[in-house]
Amino acid sequence: MAAFPALLLVHGFPLDGRMWRSQVEALSHMRRVLTPDLPGHGIDSSDPESSMDAMAESLARFLDREGIKQVDLGGFSMGGYVCFAFLRLFPGRVRSLALVDTRSGADTETGRAGRDAMMAAVRDRGAVAPAESMLPGMFTAEVDALVLAETGGWMVETSREALVADLAAMRDRVDSTPDLPGITVPTLVVVGDQDPITPVAESEAMAAAIPGARLVVVPGAAHLSPVQRPDAVSAALRQHLEAVATVTT
Ligand code: MLT
Repeated sequence: MAAFPALLLVHGFPLDGRMWRSQVEALSHMRRVLTPDLPGHGIDSSDPESSMDAMAESLARFLDREGIKQVDLGGFSMGGYVCFAFLRLFPGRVRSLALVDTRSGADTETGRAGRDAMMAAVRDRGAVAPAESMLPGMFTAEVDALVLAETGGWMVETSREALVADLAAMRDRVDSTPDLPGITVPTLVVVGDQDPITPVAESEAMAAAIPGARLVVVPGAAHLSPVQRPDAVSAALRQHLEAVATVTT
């Protein structure tokens, strides 16, 4: 029996591959779903990378080790920033793209100063600092208490070194907006209807700039839509993947 084509899902900040657990379950009947931890995150004990390009290169090495040439690529938030870098570095390895609660733009000057302040807070207080700042934006008020607690647990498990590297990579990332009109693979853009971190308007603009991209706005979700509304996000991904021709793996 032929192996399923691979789907590579890249996690956000300050998280790890566990955030995609529901999507692994929902999509494994049609894809080999890979949700690696970026270097230094989750159970990956290698040194963290402090640029989007280096994170993308680490994913390419992971695919090489797995013997996979081409993937359906998806990323949540910071994972989306990594997807843009991966697409620039390895365009031939991307069969389709899913951008989930993310943005194409670079940080503003205020945003960059915020990254520096958060790095100082991480050095001072550890992973509690970004968890306290990020958790309220991840979910709407209706979130299940257990989901909230579990996500907070994932956040505080992330090492200081990985958090500082992520913050540097996000602060220094380039503007990917000029790339959008040149994206030729089938693209899905997903965003929670109440996402305060990467708002709907930014996803609308991003989808409008990518030829043929489809936008799905997920009702009842803030930033972490794949966790708060797993069924809706998985359904959007399933529909997107069903339409992708999978000649190569
Ligand atoms: C994320 O969810 O990965 C981060 O919020 C992205 C960011 O801070 O720009």
